[in-house]
This record gives sequence, structure tokens and C-alpha cells, in this order.
Amino acid sequence: MEPSQVAIIGSGLIGRSWAMVFAAGGFKVKLYDIAQQQLTSALENIGKQMKELEESGFLKGTLSAEQQLALISICTDLKAAVEGATFIQECTPENLELKKKIFGQLDLIVGNTVILSSSTSCLLPSKLFTGLKHVKQCIVSHPVNPPYFVPLVEIVPHPETDPSTIERTYSLMKKIGQSPVKLNREIEGFVLNRLQYAVISEAWRLVGEGVISPTDLDLVMSDGLGMRYAFIGPLETMHLNAEGISNYCERYREGMRLVLNTFGSVPEFSGEIEQKINQAMSEKIPVVPKVLDARRKRRDEYLTGLAKLKKQMKSD
Ligand code: NAI
Repeated sequence: MEPSQVAIIGSGLIGRSWAMVFAAGGFKVKLYDIAQQQLTSALENIGKQMKELEESGFLKGTLSAEQQLALISICTDLKAAVEGATFIQECTPENLELKKKIFGQLDLIVGNTVILSSSTSCLLPSKLFTGLKHVKQCIVSHPVNPPYFVPLVEIVPHPETDPSTIERTYSLMKKIGQSPVKLNREIEGFVLNRLQYAVISEAWRLVGEGVISPTDLDLVMSDGLGMRYAFIGPLETMHLNAEGISNYCERYREGMRLVLNTFGSVPEFSGEIEQKINQAMSEKIPVVPKVLDARRKRRDEYLTGLAKLKKQMKSD
């Protein structure tokens, strides 16, 4: 049987990752970009990454790197790129006008069954899709970088998105090994970034008020909170840290409220505190492309190891 086909619009960091995730799931992938050079280097880079993953035993899926690479083709013609696709994942730069233009173009050339999905990190579906003829087929599927190792995908519907579009997207994400979650309605920052910004803003305030150094603040997360969060979310943590949620609330409700009432206002993320944090981070990791790239590579290695551990522990 011919494998199902998807189209990826934009072959940058996220487009490449999606292409690899879909190819690992056995899908035929057409990768589209406005720049031929960008596509050529995307394909080269994907091939290199797949080979390295295969050599280190981390390649996803059941096909070899060569077989997965053969599933991906590149294309600079939008109509040809989406022809025959059942799912289109847009991965162009985070710019509302640009994305609206692209979805407007897609709206004119697609049929009534294909799903039009955006990787946007923070543009709301109502901003992206309102007025499109195929709005029922539109959805946001927000990945987490790097999607190859961090499987979460936030599925965010437009108020007019058809329930079947949500269900089909959810099933597809499961099928390719990602971990989808459904938002029942759109909200600024979706869920992941709302949680992330809550953490960032309290981190900023604690460092700004001189309670802790920037490097120790990071350790609180990487050697403390973060360790359990890789396996167990905050709500389950509450449940387990007492005799269930109600018992936790009974014991800690007042204490939590007392602490939460001491939280400050939304930080400016500028000025002296910015300089202080920047200095500490730059001493640890100088802002030099080679050093940053090496550290990103290390981050991906950590995530790869964690992904492997999670897989092993799930099959216990
Ligand atoms: P990028 O800048 O690496 O890639 C964008 C690609 O789009 C480039 O290859 C560019 O040539 C192409 N492009 C520009 N105009 C185009 C057009 N009219 N038609 C087709 N392709 C076009 O950006 P990145 O980081 O891959 O981000 C893509 C999307 O994914 C953004 O919406 C971003 O918010 C979202 N996202 C990014 C994450 C990240 O950590 N980088 C994480 C989650 C989502």
C-alpha cells in the first residue's frame, strides 16, 4: 500500500524535525520552502541527522535511515507540494501576516478533507484562520523543540474547527509517536508556555530580589523539581505527596496561598536584573555561536538519554 502523504511548509528548524518525525512514522513527506537552497540544505541536514541517529541507536521507527530519507522529497511549488497530502504542517517564521498569507494561498488550492495545521508557538487560531473557507479543517499543532526528542504537541482548535479535525490530528500525532494534548479552547501562550512563563517569572523575581544566584536557580529546576516533572506532572505530584489531592489541599492549601500571595508583579525582563542574569549565563556559556551550538548539542544528548530512559521505564 502507498504510504500516506503529508506536506511540510517551511524547511527550517521545526519543518526539518516534523519531516523526520513523519518519515519515522512511515509517511511520505513533501517539504516545501520558498528558497531552493534552504530545501537542499534541509535535506542534507536531515540525511546527516538520520545517519547519526541510526549509528547511535536513536533512530525512531522501524525503517532504516536510508528508507526514511527516501520518503522525503523537496519542492518549491506549493500546489505540487500539497497535492495528495492528507495533512499539511505549516512551519514558516512566527509572523502573523506571513502565516495568514500562506493559509490564504492554501485555502484556495486544497480540497475538503486535508487538515491545515500550524506549528505556531503563540499566534492564536482565531488570528490565523478566521475567514478561511476551510476553517473547519484548520488547527494549531504546537510542537516543543526539538520535536524529535520532546514528543508533546499542543492541539489548539479555532472556535469553528470541526471536532473530526481535532480527533484526526490527535490520532495522527499518536500514530507518529508524538504525545498530543487537546486544548478545549484557545488561550494566549497555550498551556506549555503559560506554565513556562510562570516558572520564568518567579525565577526572574527570586534572582532579582537577591534570594538566589542565577546558576543555583537553574539547579533548583534541573536537580530538583525538573527531575520528577519528566515523569510525573504537578497535579499527580500533589496527589502522591499526600493521601490524595483532597488531603494535600487540606494540609497545604493555606501554606500554598500564603506563599502565592507573596509573588510579585510581572517582571519587565530588562534593566539591572537582565544584566545580572545575562552576566551569569554568559560566564557559564559564552554567547559565541560555536559554544552555543555545542551546548545545544549537549542539550539534545540529555534529551535523547531521557527519552530512552522514559521508554525503558514505560516498558517495565
Ligand atoms: P526557521 O526560521 O528555522 O524556519 C522557517 C522556514 O520557513 C525557513 O526555511 C524559511 O525559508 C521558510 N519560509 C519563509 N517564508 C516562507 C514562505 N512564504 N513559504 C514557505 N516557507 C517559507 O523557523 P522555525 O524555528 O523552524 O519556526 C517555524 C515555526 O515553528 C514558527 O511558527 C515557530 O514559532 C514554531 N515553533 C518553533 C519552535 C522553536 O523552538 N524554534 C518551537 C515550536 C514551534
